[in-house]
Amino acid sequence: MILPIVAYGNPVLKKKAQEIDPLADEVQELIDDMWETMYNANGVGLAAPQIGKSWRIFIIDPSPFAADDSLSEVEKKELESLKQTFINPEILEQVGDEWNFEEGCLSIPDVREDVFRKPEILLAYQDRQGNEKEERFSGVAARVIQHEHDHIEGVLFTDRISALKKRLIKSKLSAISKGKIEVDYRMKFPRYKKK
Ligand code: NI
Repeated sequence: MILPIVAYGNPVLKKKAQEIDPLADEVQELIDDMWETMYNANGVGLAAPQIGKSWRIFIIDPSPFAADDSLSEVEKKELESLKQTFINPEILEQVGDEWNFEEGCLSIPDVREDVFRKPEILLAYQDRQGNEKEERFSGVAARVIQHEHDHIEGVLFTDRISALKKRLIKSKLSAISKGKIEVDYRMKFPRYKKK
């Protein structure tokens, strides 16, 4: 089922999400809905708080980034194979020199800003079958995971930009929270008022 994506301004996006049992029926069902919802919105990642559930789950499919010609064949193959569900994830290490990448978010349509993050991470998580895993990710894949992991900690990419840049997009963010935007997927706006 395609669920509405909650927009900037909804308090659920600022909350630290709770650990959950991967094998619970309602969790498995939610994950199916998350995949459907993410693809319907052409996203490369989606976290449970973005559909209003404060649970520690996110999904990623960074394969659209594989179209980037500056990437090597190995990097492209890696991105194409990284369709994954992460449950109760925890970033254990972040290493390397911070690099800049333009991020966007399904909860904040039409806003894109450069964000600095470290290029390599070590992530502990459970998969959909409840298996405990530890895996290293780098580059764009690590970037997408860091962005989604922020969501379950109640952090948005707009919290990671300079105060000046944030001032410049303030009115845009306010418009999003009121639903005054054009978007081609279902959303739920915190301050939407019927006329
Ligand atoms: Ni996001």
